[in-house]
Amino acid sequence: MSVKIQIGVIGAGTMGAGIAQVAAEAGHAVQLIDANPDALNNAESNLLRIMNRLVEKGRRTQAEADTAMGRISYHNSLSSMADCGLVIEAIVENLEIKQSVFKELESVVSENCILASNTSSLSIASIAGACKLPSRVVGIHFFNPAPLMKLVEIIPAIQTDESTLSNAKALIDAWGKLTVVAKDTPGFIVNRVARPFYSEALRIYEEGIADIPTIDWAMTELGGFRMGPFTLMDYIGNDINYAVTQSVWTACYYEPRYKPSFTQKRLVEAGYLGRKAGRGYYDYSDNAEAPVPNKNEQLGQDILSRIVMMLMNEAAEALYWGVASRDDIDLAMTKGVNYPKGLLRWADEIGIHWIVETLDRCFDEYREERYRCSSLLRTMARKGQLFYGD
Ligand code: NAI
Repeated sequence: MSVKIQIGVIGAGTMGAGIAQVAAEAGHAVQLIDANPDALNNAESNLLRIMNRLVEKGRRTQAEADTAMGRISYHNSLSSMADCGLVIEAIVENLEIKQSVFKELESVVSENCILASNTSSLSIASIAGACKLPSRVVGIHFFNPAPLMKLVEIIPAIQTDESTLSNAKALIDAWGKLTVVAKDTPGFIVNRVARPFYSEALRIYEEGIADIPTIDWAMTELGGFRMGPFTLMDYIGNDINYAVTQSVWTACYYEPRYKPSFTQKRLVEAGYLGRKAGRGYYDYSDNAEAPVPNKNEQLGQDILSRIVMMLMNEAAEALYWGVASRDDIDLAMTKGVNYPKGLLRWADEIGIHWIVETLDRCFDEYREERYRCSSLLRTMARKGQLFYGD
């Protein structure tokens, strides 16, 4: 029987604690470290609470919960990582701080240890660039909450070697996750391809075409999405959702498709951050009245097709520019953000011609780069090709 490698997790915040739970439940001894002792204490009590709840619900036995919790040890120094085979960093999203932690880590671990970052917005190349052995650095991007979300994006930097990538992928697969491989580009797959779900909904609202509950109704009732864009932004937190948009937009050299919205910026400035603040696009106070959507079928279909067509254009661009494979793009959006269908498969079903025509109509109307149709879609429409034509 092979002995499982030790896993190090740096940063015991929201993501680090969740990743530690996943690794411990997969049978690994886990060293969880944080510079802040309060963060470590909170992580330990939160993990205990979560495991107890799983036992109460009958999802784990008491013995399973005890064993998993017993595998996690808590430390405040990187020196406890000396025997780890994989270290996943989940500290504050700041390049200089991450680089200095990776440098220090290299002086502690063996040469065979894989070093991974859970960053959402920094390039893996820039983190690997600070290391003596950049070939062992890779992005392993979990989604929140890590124990519940199936999808994990694996991101090789240009410096990453094949064995680091394949070993990291195999290990995370063995933890019961669904891995997709993404190019080291802003937003990787999910945070890039999903942008129009929020931004086109905001645009439709800002233009006065429909109000917020109507747009959410169209996307859930007619489109089959689990949550409408505004409900989802309130759930994620407008501060976080705005920061992701801003980061993808600036990192893509101000690509107009990703331009942030003033409506959302004002909400952030006002502190209307969503559910956690009791107010966002919606009012979450106890006595608040539920707003009523305008259930006009034609209006709803127009909203749905405009947002979905922008998502399909984004997915086609991601494929065209080699961000990920066709299958991984579809898997990422169905498993990472629970879209009702893979966007590329869905594009085949509704017709590539139709997407091109609709985008071109918007482009002519607005004369904005935002509605520029992917050259991949245009070529496919001309040749009568399908994404899943093989
Ligand atoms: P968090 O703020 O909840 O936790 C970060 C923890 O790192 C804190 O406990 C802090 O004390 C600790 N820390 C900061 N500097 C440190 C250092 N030099 N050494 C040791 N510990 C240090 O942050 P969160 O949300 O868990 O995010 C962590 C990383 O995961 C970030 O890179 C973020 O972009 C990424 N991420 C976050 C997601 C989310 O939804 N929150 C989703 C996917 C990735």
